[in-house]
Amino acid sequence: MAIHHILHYPDPRLRFKAAPVTRVDDEIRMLIDDMFETMYAAPGIGLAAPQVNISKRLIVLDISEKRNEPLALVNPQIVVLGGAQKSDEGCLSLPGISEGVERAARIKVSALDRHGEPLDIEAEGLLAVCIQHETDHLDGILFVDYLTEMKRNRIRKRLEKAHRQAM
Ligand code: NI
Repeated sequence: MAIHHILHYPDPRLRFKAAPVTRVDDEIRMLIDDMFETMYAAPGIGLAAPQVNISKRLIVLDISEKRNEPLALVNPQIVVLGGAQKSDEGCLSLPGISEGVERAARIKVSALDRHGEPLDIEAEGLLAVCIQHETDHLDGILFVDYLTEMKRNRIRKRLEKAHRQAM
């Protein structure tokens, strides 16, 4: 397994629309394992393939406290959205940033699992937030896109400055 480098906002590669996975094979399963390792090491509760510069529709999550409930979704599609909830979100591509975002409270998702088998999930609360956040990444959408332009610009400047200081 290998830990991948995570792209940081405002890297333009985070804005690509990812391509569907056409076959869930050993290569994809290896990528899933690497993404879990990268996410757990970060540490984070979710990671989308575009964040590690792989433009494929694939996300991994684990919202459990013990970090032992890995969930990999290939080609996830949110088919039903209901209600609303607002919670603070962060993102491994925006280190140190946390802002309140409104999302659907309940969702239904259709995806494939790591064996290419259909997987249908109903989610609410944190899991629903996390799936919506990660699925957004596949379309090049970041949680800061839901904030005001002024707030987003302030965050961008802060991260660019942190990046310069790290070089
Ligand atoms: Ni994110």
